Formats: sequence, C-alpha cells, structure tokens
Amino acid sequence: MATDVHRPVSTVTGQAVHVADLTRSFDGRPVIDGLRLDVAQGEFVALLGRSGCGKSTLLRVLAGLDREIAGTVLVPRRKAVAFQAPRLMPWKKVWRNVVLGLPGKPGRAVAERALDEVGLGHRTNAWPRTLSGGEAQRASLARALVREPDLLLLDEPFGALDALTRIKAQRLVGELWRRRGCAVLLVTHDVEEAVLLADRVLVMDNGVIAYEQRIELDRPRDIADPRFAELRAGLLHRLGVDPAAEAA
Ligand SMILES: Nc1ncnc2c1ncn2[C@@H]1O[C@H](COP(=O)(O)OP(=O)(O)OP(=O)(O)O)[C@@H](O)[C@H]1O
Ligand SMILES: [Mg+2]
Repeated sequence: MATDVHRPVSTVTGQAVHVADLTRSFDGRPVIDGLRLDVAQGEFVALLGRSGCGKSTLLRVLAGLDREIAGTVLVPRRKAVAFQAPRLMPWKKVWRNVVLGLPGKPGRAVAERALDEVGLGHRTNAWPRTLSGGEAQRASLARALVREPDLLLLDEPFGALDALTRIKAQRLVGELWRRRGCAVLLVTHDVEEAVLLADRVLVMDNGVIAYEQRIELDRPRDIADPRFAELRAGLLHRLGVDPAAEAA
C-alpha cells in the first residue's frame, strides 16, 4: 500500500486536516472506506459513532501512527494525541513523562508550565501510579500540550472519569482550545459532550462520515437551552438511539 499519501497540510489554505478517499482495511475488510474529512484551522470537531465503526483507526491515521492506508491525508506537522488510557511511563516522574520524546531535551520548566495549565502544577514531581484517574488524564493532556499542536487528537479522553471530574475535564479542554486556538478532533461516545464543546459534530458509519451537524450555539453553552436538546435528540436519532426510549 502507498505510504507517501500522509503529508503535511499547507498552512496557507486555512485547513488543519484534509482527507480524501481514505481507505484502511484489516484482513481485507475495509474499516475506513473512501472517507473524506476537512477540518479548518482552529475548528473543534467531535466524532461520534457506534463502537467498532473505526473512530480510533481514523485518529491513529491522522496522528501518523498508521500508514497502511490508501488515499490522501494532509495534517499539520505539529499534532498531538491523547488516548483514553493515559499511557504514562510508571518509572518516570510526571514531569519527565510530559516532556518525553520532545526534541531538544526541554527542561522541567517546560513541563511545569503545561502541568500548571491543566491544574497539576502541584504534582510535577509525583510518580504516575500515585495520580488519580482524572489527574493521569490531565497529565496526558499536558503531554499533548507541550507539543504545541496545531491539531489535537483526543480519543475518548474523559471516558473513564466520574461525572463531576468529567465535567471539569470538559471545561478544561474547552478553555485550552480557546486559549491555544488549535484544531481539535475529539472522539467521544457522549452526544451531550459533543454538542457542548464542538463547532461541528460528525457521525461515522460504514467507513465514512455519514452525517454532520454544525453547532451554532453561543459559548458557554447551556444544556438547558431547548436548542441544545433539539441538537442532542437529532444526533441521538442519527446514532440509532430513540431519545424517548433513552429517557424511559
Ligand atoms: N490492528 C487491527 N487489526 C485488526 N483489526 C483491527 C485493528 N485495529 C482495529 N481493528 C478493527 O477495526 C474496527 C474499528 O476499530 P476502532 O478501534 O477504530 O473502532 P472504534 O470506532 O474506535 O470503536 P470504540 O468506540 O469501541 O473505541 C474494529 O472492528 C476493530 O476490530
Ligand atoms: Mg476507539
């Protein structure tokens, strides 16, 4: 398969991501099948879709971690991923995890700034195993931020968090996005989270982006707003969930 189709996106086009005719198969079965996707610079996009439909596969392709693809994939040079499981190295202090793999061996101050930004400035010198789930998740976010990405790829970053921690983490990502101005692609199973944070919500199905919904609501968004409920219900319907049945 071609490996030269994954290239840096041109910065003059206003685009952060351009994907066309993307196909990725496993054992002859296409999981991504002629997918197209464009994300503007600084745009916040949420990606929904049933389990196994190929969301993580798409994220890995965009991150450049999977090159067994056919099609065109243009992404910024500076991109960073945070996975659902934080993946911190247990034998390295939190701050060393944050700067791990960065070119030029940046010092502790760089890590501290990013950890401060996610509210973890007091845990810079901790061992990963002493962090709570939410703290580990924020450390993983700090590790993504020190890369100063133009594209931030988040794969269900809040999936394992309790409801309150999750709300705080969602707010944090919203704030970081506003401050940093990078494009974000957030994979989530949570329709409410998608409508709360994104400029545009995509639904993946049958290997393509099967549906998209622009969210025009002002920020900060109010989940009690009837327009919010309407958008949420429309997306649930697209996902094959009957909102009335869900409420029962
Ligand atoms: N390395 C691999 N080898 C074989 N099959 C794979 C591989 N990676 C993913 N798949 C298959 O591709 C499909 C899509 O997987 P993917 O992880 O992208 O789904 P997903 O949409 O992220 O699902 P979830 O919401 O459960 O995380 C699944 O059927 C999965 O089994
Ligand atoms: Mg996944």
